[in-house]
Amino acid sequence: TKTYLTGIQTSGEPHIGNYIGAIKPALAAASSYDTLYFLADYHSLNTVKDPQRLRANIRSVAATWLACGLDPERTILYRQSSVPEVFELTTILTTVTGKGLMNRAHAYKAARDRNEAAGVTDLDAGVNMGLFNYPILMAADILIMETDFVPVGRDQTQHIEYAADIAGSFNHVYGDRYSFPIPQGVYPEGEASILPGVDGRKMSKSYDNHIPLFLPENKLKKLVRRIPTDSTPVEDPKDPDTSVVFQLLTQFADADRVADTRKRLEAGGMGWGELKNELFEAINTEVAAKRERYDELMASETELDDILAAGAARARERARHVISRVRAAIGID
Ligand code: TYM
Repeated sequence: TKTYLTGIQTSGEPHIGNYIGAIKPALAAASSYDTLYFLADYHSLNTVKDPQRLRANIRSVAATWLACGLDPERTILYRQSSVPEVFELTTILTTVTGKGLMNRAHAYKAARDRNEAAGVTDLDAGVNMGLFNYPILMAADILIMETDFVPVGRDQTQHIEYAADIAGSFNHVYGDRYSFPIPQGVYPEGEASILPGVDGRKMSKSYDNHIPLFLPENKLKKLVRRIPTDSTPVEDPKDPDTSVVFQLLTQFADADRVADTRKRLEAGGMGWGELKNELFEAINTEVAAKRERYDELMASETELDDILAAGAARARERARHVISRVRAAIGID
């Protein structure tokens, strides 16, 4: 049976983009495949430097997985930091990874572009090695579990290609003794599958334009109401395809509802306020029961810790097995 693995950074409370892009598809796969879903806590150190916040985020991401229906008997849920073999493999993988490949990584290039635009002479100013090595750590996450498929949002395509590339480089050198399966990304259907944030850019914790998945109901309503819209009068026709609110609605309402709403917007007579109410209702219907479970898990002293400890033991056992084969293949045994 095929192995599915994915991770979420513990950089804040999960948002509806994480849910549509990764959590929902990953949990759909859990009934048929071998699944490992983890909390990328070391990855989030690039942005979270406050230990109290990091601890809170770790709880929040774990509770989100469980509240959304992850069954810890079926799926191994663990923290990246509980599996030190990941870091050992990272070091090994650096030795088969070209620096040029890393130079072309989107996040690294974006940081350099920002410096250039700001007139900073050292284009690497403010770039730490955690950011630079990010894709190699992610490749190790994937390869240490001999992953076949990685359910992720489309913003992660380059990272998945890098993991495949790095696996290929390792196999090229050591393949007669040990080969990693070449991992493939599994992406949600459709162009709109990268959810926009309230400002129209990609929804992201780092842009502060996100809609947290488990916001209390009244806050969710307020936040949806505050999504900027233009001043087209209620009675005028509107273009659904340029509306963030409509794009988000397509991810939460059923197809008939979406088609009907599109017609009403295009015909005129439906105002942005009404559209926002529809979006709020659609999100709230999807999350209400899960939010209750989330609040319960967040309030419990031990439930999350126990589940993560059990997941860590299972994850580690698998990682140990793989790392020992890798060690034998490279001559460090
Ligand atoms: P992260 O933590 O940024 O996001 C977690 C998942 O949510 C998806 N996602 C989105 N999908 C649709 N629309 C959006 N606006 C949106 N924003 C985020 C992401 O594609 C992702 O699937 N590098 C990863 C974490 C990671 C990982 C891994 C993933 C570390 N190691 C190994 C898979 C396998 C990341 O930053 O995701």
